[in-house]
Amino acid sequence: MGFNFKIEGKLINLITTIWSDLADYERWNSEDLKAHQFDGPWYKRKDPPLSAVINWRKRWLEGDRKPPYPFLEIETKDNIHIGWVTIYYHEDDPHMTEIGIDITEDSYWGKGMGTEALYLWIDYLFNERKFTRLGFGTWEGNKAMTRVGEKLGFIEEARIRKSCEVNGVFYDRIKMGILRSEWKENKKHGV
Ligand SMILES: CC(C)(COP(=O)(O)OP(=O)(O)OC[C@H]1O[C@@H](n2cnc3c(N)ncnc32)[C@H](O)[C@@H]1OP(=O)(O)O)[C@@H](O)C(=O)NCCC(=O)NCCS
Repeated sequence: MGFNFKIEGKLINLITTIWSDLADYERWNSEDLKAHQFDGPWYKRKDPPLSAVINWRKRWLEGDRKPPYPFLEIETKDNIHIGWVTIYYHEDDPHMTEIGIDITEDSYWGKGMGTEALYLWIDYLFNERKFTRLGFGTWEGNKAMTRVGEKLGFIEEARIRKSCEVNGVFYDRIKMGILRSEWKENKKHGV
């Protein structure tokens, strides 16, 4: 169960994690990676940035790997592993579920792949699960992520001013969200 699940897009596929993906995660588990300068760069981590993510992948691979999937890998159409999509879900608070995306191979940025990957992921989540809304948190320094959110119909729901410090400068955190009903309506008009 779960070994061959794949959602096919035009630019990328979303696909279940396999053990050999962990070598890529280990390679990406470095503070120097450009993606980590955009994804929560204010966190004062004790461990390398992807250590918790790698442990989560291992636990999942050792488990029963049943759907619905809490994360999927992003690969190009020629099967290059370039990142992942995920949810941050708590059983006791399901309607505050957040989604996440990382394209860790930065040479693939700016080609529409992030937008397509999140489109497919959101559609999968609304189809497979009963979420009334999905949201994500980012910050004003991450223009690509806020733009991807806008392109997919998310609206800014909250701005927590000057709440994260990056290289001595204080930035606003931004919370964006979309309701199931909005997603359905936007899809009719070709989000
Ligand atoms: C955020 C991320 C997923 C976007 O993926 P992507 O494949 O580059 O996204 P797309 O190409 O689909 O779209 C990016 C959009 O942002 C815009 N953009 C990028 N950098 C920008 C900047 N500095 N200022 C304004 N717009 C910018 C692009 O022009 C494009 O918009 P357009 O289609 O209207 O031209 C990717 O950059 C990434 O993984 N970053 C590192 C990890 C991260 O930040 N994850 C999110 C944490 S909240």
